[in-house]
Amino acid sequence: MKRTLIKDTSLCAGKEVKIFGFINTIRTHGSLLFFDVRDHSGIVQVVVTSDNNNYETAQKIKPEWIVEIVGEVKERPDKMKNPEIETGGVEIEIKNIVVLSEAETVPFSVSSDGRELSEEMRMKYRYLDLRRKRMQENLRMRHEVIHYLRNYLYKKGFIEIETPVLTKSTPEGARDYLVPSRIYPGSFYALPQSPQQYKQLLMVGGIEKYFQFAKCFRDEDLRGDRQPEFTQLDMELSFIEESEILELVEEMVIEMVTSLFPDKKIKETPFPRITYHEVMEKWGTDSPDLRENKKDDNELAFAFITGFPMFEKNEENKWSSVHHPFTRPLEDDPVEIKKNPEQIKALQYDLVLNGNEIAGGSLRSHRFDVLQAVFEVLGHSKKDIDEKFGHLFSAFSYGVPPHGGIAFGFERLLMVLRGEKNIREVMAFPKTGDGRELMMGSPSSNVSKKQLEELKIEIKDGKKKKNIN
Ligand code: AMO
Repeated sequence: MKRTLIKDTSLCAGKEVKIFGFINTIRTHGSLLFFDVRDHSGIVQVVVTSDNNNYETAQKIKPEWIVEIVGEVKERPDKMKNPEIETGGVEIEIKNIVVLSEAETVPFSVSSDGRELSEEMRMKYRYLDLRRKRMQENLRMRHEVIHYLRNYLYKKGFIEIETPVLTKSTPEGARDYLVPSRIYPGSFYALPQSPQQYKQLLMVGGIEKYFQFAKCFRDEDLRGDRQPEFTQLDMELSFIEESEILELVEEMVIEMVTSLFPDKKIKETPFPRITYHEVMEKWGTDSPDLRENKKDDNELAFAFITGFPMFEKNEENKWSSVHHPFTRPLEDDPVEIKKNPEQIKALQYDLVLNGNEIAGGSLRSHRFDVLQAVFEVLGHSKKDIDEKFGHLFSAFSYGVPPHGGIAFGFERLLMVLRGEKNIREVMAFPKTGDGRELMMGSPSSNVSKKQLEELKIEIKDGKKKKNIN
């Protein structure tokens, strides 16, 4: 007999079905034993009576055991129907039950939404945490959004291209994660903070419309909306104006939200476009929450912020880029750029949603003299520029189409759409707030002497640090 998904059992009254799933809850009622059985599609009630020859097996079963059940689907009497669940009109009378996997008593209930638990507990047993309905729905919606956007961009003529993860440092404002090379001891790959340079090189390669769901890695202090490893929906286009990128993004987001999140109300379309100057003056932040009612999770207030300054002073009182050095300044005179960096505006834009920066992008400098001037303002020597970005200049020397793009912090977008407060809730296996992965135990000092020797790496203080878990 083929498997029936639990949600479909409500259509099978009078028929025999085979279901697989987890025991959600157990109740006894006199000589009757009730189980709620759960699979990824739903929950259904099954019942065994004491005269059933499966009764003895059934009595041993505990929550979260995994079972295979053959039984007859029966319509429940009207007053026993449960309108709260999809299969509430039926129950399954067990004909045969097989235990496929027993389970230890789980450390916490997976029936709740999990908000009562500590992060430590949830992350250590993430595979159990994922069993709860809220997490199942979050991951399913993540999948739906990916699927929708991928199709959308495909229809608009974009090509999905993967770029390397073992790469060279590219400046996005955070620290890099480095990976030592065994073949070239003392040399390191860097994990990409974003595919920024690769996507620009794809434009040089004649790929005029690129996108990717890209893994990005940033070693920075973590917050609810920051993970060391996160996903961007990354896009780049050739022969494009700022307003065209904003329109494309706006249309894509509106269509996706309307199709997949019909309960959400977008406060204002077209999305307001506010200059950096205005936003800082009025709200004192470049990611303002423009909702009318800040407690209403169903309200979505999008806005584009444009006209950012190109440079800002960092803690060391040196010029740094507000976005990244590849951003095209509005002023394209290299002399002016070097003379008055504080006055230079950038062709840069952010998309904010309910107080979160959910995407950022810019048009790019494709002129050598402008790029050179920007790098100089940022304090790079000529030698430094050549070493770090020579490949880009070299690539551009063979012809570079004017181009620009944008990248969504994919989890931030999902977090808001799912009414969550932390991007961890929309990721399967995130790191804790202090950068640890408690389930497998990373980062780990548990590497062999041989591995370190091969990499010609010596741990300075001589003794290994304690493992984190
Ligand atoms: P930017 O650095 O602004 O731009 O990143 C784009 C978007 O990524 C999200 N984001 C993060 N999400 C989770 N955890 C993090 N640590 C994290 N850091 C950033 C934000 C942000 O808006 N290459 C450029 C894009 C471009 O110019 O096209 C870039 O990465 O939502």
